[in-house]
Amino acid sequence: MSEHAIAAGSLPVAVRTPGKVIVFGEHGVVHGAPELLVAIDLHLQVGVASAPEFRLNRELASASTNPYLREALERFWPGRPPVAITTSSRIPRAAGLGSSAAFVASLGAAFGSASGGVARDTLAQSSFEVERGAQGVGSPGDTSSVVAGGCIALNSPVGTLLWEVASDDASWTVRRLVDPGWVWVVAYSGIPRSTATAVQQVGRRLAEPDGPDLLQRFRHIATAGIGAMVAEDRAEVGRRMVENQQLLVDVGVSHPRLEALLTAVAPVAVGAKLTGAGCGGSIVVLPQAGREGEAVRRLARAGAVAFAVRPTLHGCDVVGSA
Ligand code: PMV
Repeated sequence: MSEHAIAAGSLPVAVRTPGKVIVFGEHGVVHGAPELLVAIDLHLQVGVASAPEFRLNRELASASTNPYLREALERFWPGRPPVAITTSSRIPRAAGLGSSAAFVASLGAAFGSASGGVARDTLAQSSFEVERGAQGVGSPGDTSSVVAGGCIALNSPVGTLLWEVASDDASWTVRRLVDPGWVWVVAYSGIPRSTATAVQQVGRRLAEPDGPDLLQRFRHIATAGIGAMVAEDRAEVGRRMVENQQLLVDVGVSHPRLEALLTAVAPVAVGAKLTGAGCGGSIVVLPQAGREGEAVRRLARAGAVAFAVRPTLHGCDVVGSA
């Protein structure tokens, strides 16, 4: 099987995990619509070593308010000896670029390696459960993206089936698509936001009388976007991103700062939209070929933290000892 497992190892261990962007379908995916994600070359690295007490970046874990840490230790390392966890990351936090998914999957891979190895489908399922335990809501899109690497589609018939992830009341298929290898630009607005709050807000919106029509638009746009991506049709991908952005405006998760960034980058973009939960966070841009640098400069001048990013084909993996 090409999706190799996380190999067995022993502590200390270091794991490196990519961030991700959602190109189509955030929010819709929570309600069963398709989603397309690309793992990107902004990475988070986690080291785990035996220690006298549980610590995260020197802070005592018992004093930590980090719900992802708490859930991850309960799930991946129950009743086991204390460890010191250290992190270093290029993924801005609470920005919609996958930092919490990368943190959770890194811990799952590190503890999985130290417990005899772990298959990727198992890691995708358990990382989703940990993230959902910490957030209370959500889909397995982010966690599957950073475990799988490359380009994946949820709830779509297109691509090669990697795995299925289930919660108590729903399940999502995860398929691998061939990544066209395009350079994207992501830009963090500097406005942190809560995924859970945005997901609950959209849930209430979809419960209104026109909710089924909105959900149908989510399905339609993501399906068309996935088709365009597979056909490597940049112009169509860009058009569908713009259409997806309008839908996200209509369900109330855009933000004036995101709109300002989208306006700033529009002259050099094939398409652009918010990425992740919205209400702040980040945008993703498909820049005109060769104008990636200009897109980054425009976004930086507009006050964002902007990066040109490439897809990374490798999901989380052990890279050595901590
Ligand atoms: O902003 P992020 O990276 O937490 O992404 C959220 C994507 C949602 O569809 C809004 C929620 C989810 O879990 O899929």
